[in-house]
Amino acid sequence: MKFFIDTADIEEIKEAMSWGALAGVTTNPSLYAKTGGKLADFEDHMVKIAEICEGLPVSAESTAKTTDAMVAEGEHLASLAPNIVVKLPVCAESLAATHALAEEGIKVNMTLVFSAPQALLAARAGARYVSPFVGRFDDIGDEGLDHLEEIVTCIHNYDFGHEVEIITASVRTPHHVTQAALMGADIATVPFGALKKCLKHPLTDQGLASFEADWKKVTGEK
Ligand code: E4P
Repeated sequence: MKFFIDTADIEEIKEAMSWGALAGVTTNPSLYAKTGGKLADFEDHMVKIAEICEGLPVSAESTAKTTDAMVAEGEHLASLAPNIVVKLPVCAESLAATHALAEEGIKVNMTLVFSAPQALLAARAGARYVSPFVGRFDDIGDEGLDHLEEIVTCIHNYDFGHEVEIITASVRTPHHVTQAALMGADIATVPFGALKKCLKHPLTDQGLASFEADWKKVTGEK
């Protein structure tokens, strides 16, 4: 499974990319708003992220409401950098826009996916990525991972005539990451805080402390 970082924060992206283990970035309007960014700077911000990521896919979300406007905004976003993927929220208008953009060779990441039928329709329309949300189900007392499992199975049951990758989104915990990988989800897009938690384990900390203490016996260091 590949890791994307789910943020629009430039410093977080730079730090996470420096690990050499990440394969892309996803953003959304809320994540951009969180950076304090203004509308006038949005495109430059996306270009900056695309440059930092050197060819890796960077999802930039359209806020257009009609199919024509989504296609126009999608074409524009995709023209900003070769690695920008157009993110569209699943609905009738965005399916039609996805179909049109895919015909032009523009990659679409269909977001706000909460059910298998939504995911299947997105893939059929030509979406290159489908993003089922996990954590937001958990937030309302449902089991996000159960829904993800249904979606992964349904998507993997079929050949859509083009590559479709499942981006596990709305990830909150390392457990979400593990379960998504066990299900065979292609990608997990993970906020920086949760990514750092994925690196940690108390037995790693304990092991490191004892190696350091034992090495001092070897070196004589106090
Ligand atoms: C990513 O594509 C989604 O926009 C994001 O993962 C949503 O996460 P949230 O539910 O934590 O806002």
